[in-house]
Amino acid sequence: MPQEVIRRKRDKQELTEAEIASIVEGVTDGRVSEGQIGAFTMAIYLNGTTIDERVALALAMRDSGRVLDWSGSGIDPRLIIDKHSSGGVGDEKITLLVVPLAAACGLFVPNLSGWGLDYCGGEMDMLASVPGYDGAPKPETYMRAVIETGGAISGPTSELAPADMKIFKVRDVTATVESVALITGSIMSKKLATAPNGVVITVGSGSGAYMATVDDARELAESMAEVGAGAGIPSVMLLTDLDAVLGTSVGSAVEVQETVDFLSGACRDPRAKELVIAVTAEMIVLAGVAPDIAEARALGEARLDDGSAAERFDRMIAALGGPADFVARAADILPKAAVIRPVVPETNGYVAGMNAKAVGLALIATGGGRKRPGDPIDLTVGFTDFCQVGNTVGADRPLCVLHTRNEAEWEEGASRIRAAVDISPTVPPAQGPIVIDRIERRP
Ligand code: URA
Repeated sequence: MPQEVIRRKRDKQELTEAEIASIVEGVTDGRVSEGQIGAFTMAIYLNGTTIDERVALALAMRDSGRVLDWSGSGIDPRLIIDKHSSGGVGDEKITLLVVPLAAACGLFVPNLSGWGLDYCGGEMDMLASVPGYDGAPKPETYMRAVIETGGAISGPTSELAPADMKIFKVRDVTATVESVALITGSIMSKKLATAPNGVVITVGSGSGAYMATVDDARELAESMAEVGAGAGIPSVMLLTDLDAVLGTSVGSAVEVQETVDFLSGACRDPRAKELVIAVTAEMIVLAGVAPDIAEARALGEARLDDGSAAERFDRMIAALGGPADFVARAADILPKAAVIRPVVPETNGYVAGMNAKAVGLALIATGGGRKRPGDPIDLTVGFTDFCQVGNTVGADRPLCVLHTRNEAEWEEGASRIRAAVDISPTVPPAQGPIVIDRIERRP
């Protein structure tokens, strides 16, 4: 019975593979209720797990649905490489950028992403703002999109990693996200379900990430690498500094617009660009398309600059039901908020730092994130032109532009953003690099 397993984890016992599999099966077929998922995940959050339990959880979650089989697809299996992010404020749009760029470099990227999770956004909420886009396609449709365009981004579905779909929705609103075991299970079940030949995962730390410190991020990276190696695939983990909002926007439709502006070359935030190129280059090397990172970076830069990544994005969007020529028409197509106004700070000065988690929570408070499992969210709500560490801000240099449904939510969001950004009268120390460290593991 689920309550017996939950009780054992509550009492700090190590669970067996069979016990973990029984919970995951019950989650998948509905015998384990949302309340029991909440209790199970909280027991894991509070009491932790052994590495064997993490591996068992990830594999049971993978096996809750189908594992894709690419044999007979005509694709060289070495070219099938996926990516993921462990979560960060402004960080998930990197997937929307890397998948088409890697595809433009000759790779095939079957990507299962997620929805917003607690204070971090999710690719599937962003893509829900694209009219017609099917974020839960049948596996055959999904595979065809990968074969024909080089990449597809969907959420877990009732056929692919269905246990993650259910556990994710409960974790989102029960303060059980920041757990090495639960993040490992969630991410690696999705990565293994689409059967890539290797994965690159960014593991963030800092106020905008689930892992507070670099040491915590390293533990999470090692845990995911261990599961990957156990399942027979190589992985590269890039440890990233997410102590500030990544890129210039936070939200759903607004991050899709930032993606489009980035791909078309209209605007490329330097830290976001460095991460996009770093992740894509690691994927290219894992696939054997370039011999080393320097050549792989040059290939990535070239495919970004010659417009082929933007063209791939168009094809990927259309292949899953979205509009044709999306990059050229996004600004007209994407939904817009009722109130769009800059937020000016109370004092002039330099941005010395920010509490990026508070920025993510401001998005939830203004209707752009969920408070209960499955809540609808407003896809138009968000922040654009977000200030970066070191920027000068003041009466004529706003902290961001805030997009909300009404004036009351605008006021609430503005006061939260003002509280989240630290302003100093003197020039702050320069921000460190976005990629802090790298871990590689082979089976
Ligand atoms: N991304 C996921 O897919 N799952 C998590 O738990 C965290 C980030």
